This record gives sequence, structure tokens and C-alpha cells, in this order.
Amino acid sequence: MIAILDFGSQYTQLIARRVREAGVYCEILPYNVELERLTAHEPEALILSGGPASIYEEGAPHPQPGVLDLDLPMLGICYGMGVLVTAEGGKVASSGHREYGPAPLTVTVSEGLFAGFNGDNPRVWMSHGDRLESLPPGWSAIATSKNSPLAAAQRDDGRRHVVQFHPEVVHTERGSDVLSNFMFKVCGLKNDWSMESFVDATSRRIKEQVGDGHVICGLSGGVDSTVTAALLERAVPGQLTCVFVNNGLLRKDEADEVKGRLGDYFGADFVYVDASDRFLDALAGVEDPEKKRKIIGGIFIDVFEDAAHDAQARKGPVKFLAQGTLYPDVIESVSVNGPSATIKSHHNVGGLPERMKLELVEPLRELFKDEVREAGRVLGVPADSLDRHPFPGPGLAVRILGPVNRDDLAVLRDADAIFIEEIRAAGLYDDIWQAFAVLLPIRTVGVQGDFRTYDKVIALRAITSEDGMTADWFRFPPEVLAQSSARIANEVAGVSRVAYDISSKPPATVEWE
Ligand code: XMP
Repeated sequence: MIAILDFGSQYTQLIARRVREAGVYCEILPYNVELERLTAHEPEALILSGGPASIYEEGAPHPQPGVLDLDLPMLGICYGMGVLVTAEGGKVASSGHREYGPAPLTVTVSEGLFAGFNGDNPRVWMSHGDRLESLPPGWSAIATSKNSPLAAAQRDDGRRHVVQFHPEVVHTERGSDVLSNFMFKVCGLKNDWSMESFVDATSRRIKEQVGDGHVICGLSGGVDSTVTAALLERAVPGQLTCVFVNNGLLRKDEADEVKGRLGDYFGADFVYVDASDRFLDALAGVEDPEKKRKIIGGIFIDVFEDAAHDAQARKGPVKFLAQGTLYPDVIESVSVNGPSATIKSHHNVGGLPERMKLELVEPLRELFKDEVREAGRVLGVPADSLDRHPFPGPGLAVRILGPVNRDDLAVLRDADAIFIEEIRAAGLYDDIWQAFAVLLPIRTVGVQGDFRTYDKVIALRAITSEDGMTADWFRFPPEVLAQSSARIANEVAGVSRVAYDISSKPPATVEWE
């Protein structure tokens, strides 16, 4: 295990990704983690990340006493470089010339970090305003760049290395080789972390936490909740109840598909609750999007709690609630300017854990999204549950603008299904982060045969995104839009006009409500 001390760099998560991709388990810890907590992880090496501060400023972040005395191989990146070298008497100062972007690196020692670089001078990604001015005693330079004569250095015992550039970003040529050399050549680690070993270790941990207790889990049919439940099924078969609630706001045939797919996978531990009428009756006439969300959230908790009570009658008291919280949600983001550590947590089922006194089980807390998909594959979760676009909890209620009713739901479902069918037929589904149809609350004039019509409008939305926080609209080949539009207008009764949404986020959001 490698511990990555986070000094606030925007790239810290990338370091973790690269390390895990190379087959070594790692965790990100705040830069000021206590010595005891750090050593409890039994790290075999430390990586000190970059960060926005300058090491020579007053109040610059430093590791806790004792951390740098650990007899472990250490790699300092950018700000982390400053931490390691100043601790041993080296000097970092403002370079007087901020350096951002690519810079050619001249490797002078093709060993250790640069083993195998013989004669290769990669372009590396710089992002700094400080540079290493002088090395501590017993250290030597191993690479230079135009603005940083000491662009990389090592302690002569080979236990400490520093680099001014960012080996973790894709723009750094051979950056993965630098990190691999650190892990395998310098630290002598093995690349034995795999998803199979994660699944085995996590199953054991779940068993320890849960004992013979009864665990409940809300299944949406999406990736995170499905893989969470699958891990529990592997760890404590028979002690799990997963509840899939049909809120009447799902896509065309979705309830049946999820029921079929996950009902088969989870067998007797799968519970299906059709609460469509309860949700749709409560939503009748409600126009305000936030009010819709509140109503849907409130009923979901009630329905889920009822299902939990039913399950208790069969399998004994429910003690645990499993949730699909992912790593990006739990990384402790430490403000490098202050002592406060904040931990974000997902509470998809609102106040339920407190109300029913449930302890949380969050087996995906250590995984990134694509690792969750990989875990799902290892667990044999049906591929259709792993590769789906995200779908919002309030479902089609936020895609029918204005009040929701059953007739409009039918129209929207048909239009949405055609759009997705055409996207799949064009082989574009996996290139798109999320795609869907929206039913607008207006009518426009059209002509069908010899008749004038006054019908509904469907808007199509498809976006590319990394995380849903920012997004751009997807550039379709025109024939995919043409075919979707023609089919929707022809096959969906009551729709005569189709528009494509070309707004990015910001200023628009992904959903229309
Ligand atoms: P927005 O519309 O906020 O969407 O740009 C970003 C992502 O979040 C999803 N979304 C929701 N998911 N409950 C959810 O579970 C919600 O109320 C909700 N609103 C938006 C949206 O589908 C997109 O993926």
C-alpha cells in the first residue's frame, strides 16, 4: 500500500489513479494525518502531492512530526518536492518565471526513477512558480529542464526522490514509467492489486462488520447501487434485502428489465415494490421542480421504510444500510489554509439511518467510478447494469416540464426509447455521458397529411462530461438526429416537432428542471 499525502493539488486523485492502474493499492490521506493513523495503514511508501502553497511562506503546510522520519521510500511531486528537500536543508525559492505546460526534460541519470530512459528526453508537464535552488547534502540532480536546472533529484541512498513536474498527468510523456519505476524499481513493490483481490478483501471486511446481521440496500438499477448490493451478496448471502422501488417515473420497460435482470441475480434477496400510484397521485398538478423532488424523496423514504419493516418480519431486525458511496465523495479535502477537514457523504435515503438506527456499510468507498464497473464485471453483474447512462432519482418527473401525468409519461417514454435506440444503433452510446428526451409544456403548429396539427414538442439532450459538474452538448452526425426526429414524429402520437438542445453546462444544467 502506498499512502499519498494530499497537499491540495488538483492532480492528487490522478496520482491515485495511476498508482492503482499499475496494480498497487493506494490511499489519499490529508497532508497533516497523524503519525499513528498513517502507520496504521502500514504504508510501504509515501508520495507527497503537489499543492497551491509555497514551502517558504509562513504557514505553509507540513506533515506531522515524525512522518518524514519514517524509514520509507518517498517521492515528492512539485510542492511535495519542496517538503522533502527543505526538510533536509535544501532550498526552494520563487523561480521568478511561472512555468505552466509542457517543457522538455533532459534526463541525466537513467536509473531509479528514470530507469530505461536511456537517451530519451520526454516532454513533461510543469505547473509551478517555485523551483529547487539548492539540494540538501547527499542529494544529486537526475534531470534538468530549461527553467529548472534541478527538475528531478534523488538522495544518494536512493530512498528519496523529487520531481518538479507532474508524472501523473497524461500530458507528461512517460509519466507512468516514472511512477512505475518508483513503485517497482525504487520501492520493490509488487503489482498484485487487482479487482479480484479487492473483491475478496472487501467481502471479508463486510463479513467482519456485518457478522450475521441483516443488511438492507436500495437498488436503483444503476451502477453504484447494483455493485454495492452485489458485493454484499458475495460477502453475506442470504442476509441481504435489496429493495427496488418503481416510482412510476422510470423509462420505458425499465421496471420490467431491472426486475428481470437483478431479480435473477439477487434471487430471493430481491424485493420489488410497485409504488407508482402513490408517487403519481402525490405529484398530480405539481408544477415546481423542487416541490416535485421533495415529494418524490419523501415518499421514497416512506416506501423504503415499509419495505424494511416487511423484510424484518422475514429475516430479523435490519441492522445495516448499504450505500454506494464512491471514493471521490469521501476523500478528505483538507483546506491547505486551515485546520478543518471536511468529509462529504452521500445520504441517498435521507434521514433513514438515524430513524431506523442503521449502521452504514459502504463497500465502494475506496473506488473510482470506472473501478466500480470493473468490480461489477468481476462479480458477474449483468453488463446492462454497468454501462448505463446516469439517471436522476426523480426520474422522468424532471423531464416533463410542469405537472406530470400518465399520458405525458407514455409520450415521453416512447420518444426517449427511440432516441436511445438510434444512439445505440449508431454505436454512440458509450461516447455519450448521458442522453435523454424532454417533453416541453407547449404546443406548436404542424401539418400531417392534409391536416393542420397542434401538438407537443420533444427536446433531445445528449452531453459529454467527466462528472456531470460541467458538460458540453454532443456533436452528432446529422443523420442520427434526422432519423431520431423522423421516427419520433412518426411513431409517437401527439408529437409533431423535435428540437436538439445545444446548451453547455454552465450556463444550462444537464436536466431541464
Ligand atoms: P444537473 O441537471 O444538475 O444534473 O446539471 C447533473 C447530473 O445530476 C443528475 N440529477 C439528479 N440526480 N437526483 C439525482 O439523483 C436529482 O434530483 C437530480 N437532478 C439532476 C442529472 O441527471 C445529471 O446526471
